[in-house]
Amino acid sequence: MNRRVLGSAGALAAILFVSIAHQVNRPVLAAHGLPEPPALLADTGLYVDGSLTVVRPGNRSFVPQYPLWSDGLSKPRWIYLPPGTTIDGNDEHDWKFPVGTKLWKQFSLKDRKVETRLLWKASADGWVTGSYLWNEAGTEAVLAPAEGVPDVLEVAPGRRISIPSRTDCTACHGTKPPAPLGFNALQLSSDRDPNAIHGEKLGPDALTVVQLSTERLLAHARPDLAQNPPRIRTANADTRAALGYLAANCGVCHDGKGEIAALGPTLRHRDLVADGDAVARSLINQPTRWQLPGIPDGHTVLVKPGAPDGSALLVRMRSRAPSSQMPPLGSVVRDQHAVETLARWIASYPLKPR
Ligand code: HEC
Ligand code: HEC
Repeated sequence: MNRRVLGSAGALAAILFVSIAHQVNRPVLAAHGLPEPPALLADTGLYVDGSLTVVRPGNRSFVPQYPLWSDGLSKPRWIYLPPGTTIDGNDEHDWKFPVGTKLWKQFSLKDRKVETRLLWKASADGWVTGSYLWNEAGTEAVLAPAEGVPDVLEVAPGRRISIPSRTDCTACHGTKPPAPLGFNALQLSSDRDPNAIHGEKLGPDALTVVQLSTERLLAHARPDLAQNPPRIRTANADTRAALGYLAANCGVCHDGKGEIAALGPTLRHRDLVADGDAVARSLINQPTRWQLPGIPDGHTVLVKPGAPDGSALLVRMRSRAPSSQMPPLGSVVRDQHAVETLARWIASYPLKPR
C-alpha cells in the first residue's frame, strides 16, 4: 500500500484500495514468474539503438480520445506489436494482445522528460509494469524501484509528483484482467469526440480503429467497425464529453466489478456505447456511502442536478485532500478545467439534445 499517495487519513479508502490492488488475479510479478523490466529504458526497445530521442519506426503512436488527467503533463504514447501478430478484437471492449506487445507512455513537463511507463505482455497471462525515471539532462532513464520514488518533480507550488509503485499501477490497470487502458476500441475510435476534455490532437501516424483494420492488425472485429466505430451515445454533446472524461478518469476503477462495485459511478465502455444517456441517468440522485459534510446522513448523492456542490462526484473530483480525492492516486493537482466543465454539466442537467 502506498501511504505517500493515499495519506494515512484516508483509512477507508486505504483499506478498500489495498484489497483492490491485491485481488488474486492481479499481475503480482514475482508470483507469476514474469521477468523484471529491463534496467534501462534504452533496453526496452522504445528507441533506435544508441538514441534516447529517435523512436523506433516499428513503435506506433496512439492518442486516446479521452485522456487521464496527469497534473497537466504531456504524454506521448506508443505501442509495439511483434511482426505478424494481431490483436484479438472479438470482444470489442476487451481486446486481447499478443505476447510480446509493449506500450509506453512518456510524461513531460514542457520539454523536460520526467518519467516513461512501460506495459509489456511478457507471457500469455502476465503484463510486466515498469517506470523509468529520467535525469534532468534527459540523457538517461533508469528503472524506478518497485516501491516507486517520492517527490520527483514540483508541478505546482508545493505540489510534487511521485513515481507510483508497481502495486499502484495495478490499482488502475488491474481492475479487469490486467490490460492497457487507453488502447481500446472506444479510446481509438475514429469517430472522435470534438469536445473531449483535454482532447489531444491526432498526429498523422497515430493508430485508430480504421488504421488498425486497414493494416489488418485487428482480428475477429465486426466487419463494419471502420464504418461504424464506437462512440458514447447521447442526445447531448456535453453529456458525451462528460461521460468520456468520467470513463477514462474514474471508470478504470468504477467499472461495476470488484470491491467497489456497489460504490460510486459505474462507467463501462459497453454501456456507454449502447446508451450513454442511461449511464448518465444512473448517476443522478444515486445515494453514496461517502457523506458530504453538512448534509444529513444518508442524503448525499453522486450527482444532484442543478447542485454541483451537493454532488459527491464533483466534490471528490475537486478535492486533493488524501481522504477524499478522486481518483485516489495518479495526480496531486486537481483538474480545474474538468471540474468547471463537469460543474456546468451538473448545473444544467438534464440537457437538451444538441
Ligand atoms: C490513476 C490510475 C492509473 C495509475 C495509478 C496508472 N495508470 Fe497507466 N494509465 C491509466 C489510464 C486511464 C491510461 C489511459 C489514458 C491515458 O493514457 O491518458 C493509462 C495509460 C498507460 C499506458 C499507455 C498504454 C495504455 O494503457 O493505454 C502505460 C504504458 C501505462 N499507463 C503504464 C502505467 C504504469 C507502468 C503504471 C505504474 C507505474 C501506471 N500506468 C499507473 C491509468 C493509470
Ligand atoms: C484507483 C481507483 C479509483 C479511481 C480511478 C477512482 N476511484 Fe472513486 N473510489 C475508489 C475507491 C477505492 C472508493 C471507495 C473508498 C472511498 O470512498 O474513498 C471510491 C469511492 C468513490 C466515491 C464514493 C462512493 C460511495 O458510494 O461512497 C465517489 C463519489 C467516487 N469514488 C468518485 C470518483 C470519481 C468522480 C472518480 C474520477 C474523477 C473516481 N472516483 C476515480 C477508487 C477509485
